Amino acid sequence: MRIVITENYDEMSRIGARIVARTINEKPNAVLGLATGGTPIGLYRELVRMHREEGLDFSRVTTFNLDEYVGLPKDSPASYHWFMRENLFQYLNIPEQNIYIPSGTTDNYEAFCTWYEARIRESGGIDLQLLGIGTDGHIAFNEPTSSLGSRTRIKTLAKQTILDNARYFERPEDVPIYAITMGVGTILEARKILILANGRYKAPAVAAMIEGPVTSMCTASALQMHPETVCVLDREATKDLQMLEYYEWVQEKSPGSPYRKRREDTPLL
Ligand code: PGA
Repeated sequence: MRIVITENYDEMSRIGARIVARTINEKPNAVLGLATGGTPIGLYRELVRMHREEGLDFSRVTTFNLDEYVGLPKDSPASYHWFMRENLFQYLNIPEQNIYIPSGTTDNYEAFCTWYEARIRESGGIDLQLLGIGTDGHIAFNEPTSSLGSRTRIKTLAKQTILDNARYFERPEDVPIYAITMGVGTILEARKILILANGRYKAPAVAAMIEGPVTSMCTASALQMHPETVCVLDREATKDLQMLEYYEWVQEKSPGSPYRKRREDTPLL
């Protein structure tokens, strides 16, 4: 895992967006795996700016979202379909038919999950998967004890996740209990992974992901098995890392890494 420590949310978002932009510049028909939640909003804002001001072109890009709540229609403001349209898709030129988000309202979830996995494969696989991390160490909605080989399926959400996400709903009891989510195994097949985390409250999960044992109790720890993962963290999220000094040393001293002088131009992936 490559650890990149940034000073704050804005810097984390800018560096994350540069990694996404580099993927698209190198491969204009890149397949991106996208995430929802509070973490990637700044990165999405920066991608929109790059599209408008720098001509970053999404016309051949395909996207697959990680997850969706079961039972929420696309036009529900709490759905991830809505989130993606509001925060990203309405501002970019991704063709509608290239956008995939799990359905929260299919009448055959099993068949839908099989179809979703097949669409990812037929699209050539995910080139860059963007992730956030839950306070319980989940990636997508792969809650603690999810199989590290799991595929797209329905998951029952953990109580902590329901509490964490209650802010997006009028009442905590409105938070759906089930979600359809890519599995850990699905995520690990992405060629590159970019995981972002910010805030002191994410620090224990970040430490478990990077320094803990590989365990289904923290599904993000499975990323230790992935050959090309970069973690972009704000300073608050690094607070529980035992090896922090070492990561800072690596960041500054790696041969060929001009991070200190030109932080945001460092080749990161
Ligand atoms: P957040 O959620 O970005 O809203 O903190 C992350 C997650 O639960 O994966």
